Amino acid sequence: MSLTMDTLVSLCKRRGFIFQSSEIYGGTGSCYDYGPLGVELKQNIKRLLWRDFVQSRADMVGIDASILMHPTVWKASGHLDHFTDPMVDCRECKLRFRADHVDTLPWTHYCPATKGNKFTIPPGEPCSHCGARRTLCPDCGKGELTAPRQFNLMFKTFMGPVEEDASVAYLRPETAQAMFVNFDNVLQSMRMKLPFGIAQAGRSFRNEITPGNFIFRTREFEQMEIEYFVNPHDTVEGRPADEYWHDRWIADCMAWFRRYGLSGENLRLREHDKDELSHYSKRTVDIDYRFPIGWSELMGIANRTDFDLRQHAKFSGKSLTYFDEERKEHVVPYVVEPAMGVDRALLAFMADAYVEEEVRGEKRVVLRFHPELAPVKVAVLPLLKKRDEIVRTARAIRADLAKQWRVVYDDTAAIGRLYRRQDEVGTPYCVTVDVQTVGDSEKGEAGDGEVTIRDRDSMEQARVPMDALPAVFHDLLNGGAWSQVAARYPAAK
Ligand code: GAP
Repeated sequence: MSLTMDTLVSLCKRRGFIFQSSEIYGGTGSCYDYGPLGVELKQNIKRLLWRDFVQSRADMVGIDASILMHPTVWKASGHLDHFTDPMVDCRECKLRFRADHVDTLPWTHYCPATKGNKFTIPPGEPCSHCGARRTLCPDCGKGELTAPRQFNLMFKTFMGPVEEDASVAYLRPETAQAMFVNFDNVLQSMRMKLPFGIAQAGRSFRNEITPGNFIFRTREFEQMEIEYFVNPHDTVEGRPADEYWHDRWIADCMAWFRRYGLSGENLRLREHDKDELSHYSKRTVDIDYRFPIGWSELMGIANRTDFDLRQHAKFSGKSLTYFDEERKEHVVPYVVEPAMGVDRALLAFMADAYVEEEVRGEKRVVLRFHPELAPVKVAVLPLLKKRDEIVRTARAIRADLAKQWRVVYDDTAAIGRLYRRQDEVGTPYCVTVDVQTVGDSEKGEAGDGEVTIRDRDSMEQARVPMDALPAVFHDLLNGGAWSQVAARYPAAK
């Protein structure tokens, strides 16, 4: 089965993951709202990133900086001069395109050198007969395209009530710069020793010329970036420290995506060519993912050298150095930067988790999320919603488990339907309360106090005493094997 973006978009809307922004007004171009399940998934991604890359490491700390920064930051960083894309307009239909994107599309050409014969010319190539390049709009096919001109991607605004040049401010296009301008604050307040890193997760804004492909490229998105500072005079395992740490971060990020469920065959590393490198980069490697739109960048890991700290020292007049006690000298650290898009990570986790299978002649859609990513960990379902004791017990179980995890209660359909609904949003476990659990007081029958747990992936069941549920889920949701639970608490005795 090859998953399409349309299938994902439809599931996201239908099941409360992602909605078009301001949909009732016709939508805002390339802006999306995360719904009740989407926000849980996104928070889980950010929480795991923070736990694994910040909290658990002695060499990492975090910050949460303001989105509006001093405008000189963007002069020093190079964004005002270099953060541009080449843009072309169609003179006829007025649509705008990124010139480099237009070059990636084939085009139709009536060649004058061959008496007007029609050819489809491959992307980026001239006509092999007359040497002409594409000049017509890829959308309407009629209008001439203008010559490319550079367009700055930063959103501009004004601080305070007066719209004048002196009050211009920009919405940050990346979270990274706050880590550089706070380098000395963090160094001094936390008494850090090289190598160390500063992380930040937050919103970034880019006025992309051609956003699109759902949440893949939007104008407002979330990033989690790490600036990892190393001493350029150090060596690790016989290699310059910055080069060693660059490779280490590439491997660690790749392992992180694998750990939470992305399959190896959908991941690859892509080395940037020299002419593709950003103005600050000595080497950049992307982790690409095979999205439904094809192989595309999931995150980038760059060696930014000492470019940023030197630039900010120059423009602010403040020293941004580290005192190397051993060598008794001030050094400007080099920086390795793992830069991840949270929305792209979410899209990749959804695409990789999506499975369609046939069960007893019917289609079953499952999101096989890693339990730590799943928006809902457990769904508690009463087998009969007209039996008060069953409903009361199911609600009490939900309330008890919800002290630790996101747990939902649902009685709005028959049990088979409820299971399918939870499969489709990736809930790893369902708990069913039935007559056997609570007994039948009218007939004088006592309940056994046990409930059924159903495993999403195998669809197997186990019969577990109610008071054992917290311990069982603690185990299962922290990497415990379902087979052990199934063996200890068999469904049929
Ligand atoms: N500080 C370096 C930096 O921002 P980048 O490659 O421009 O590098 C890092 O961005 C990551 O941010 C990308 O790999 C991608 O995951 C995400 N990203 C960038 N632009 C985006 C956009 N318009 N929409 C969604 N995510 C985006």
